[in-house]
Amino acid sequence: MSDNDFLLCRHMGLTRNDFVKIIKEKNLTTVEAVMDETDAGSVCGSCIYDLNLLMEEILEEQKKK
Ligand code: FES
Repeated sequence: MSDNDFLLCRHMGLTRNDFVKIIKEKNLTTVEAVMDETDAGSVCGSCIYDLNLLMEEILEEQKKK
């Protein structure tokens, strides 16, 4: 895990970088699609807020390209 990485969904054991990788590889554009793909958010849901922020960040970044 790099310094700016953190466990984003502790129930699925997925870090921020894991999500970035999955989102980019599969070209996911919504949090719902990420949740379907990874089952994140299906246990306690506390990671959904962070997932929304991450998705916004990635979409913003893609707009700039
Ligand atoms: S932290 Fe993601 S479902 Fe609990």
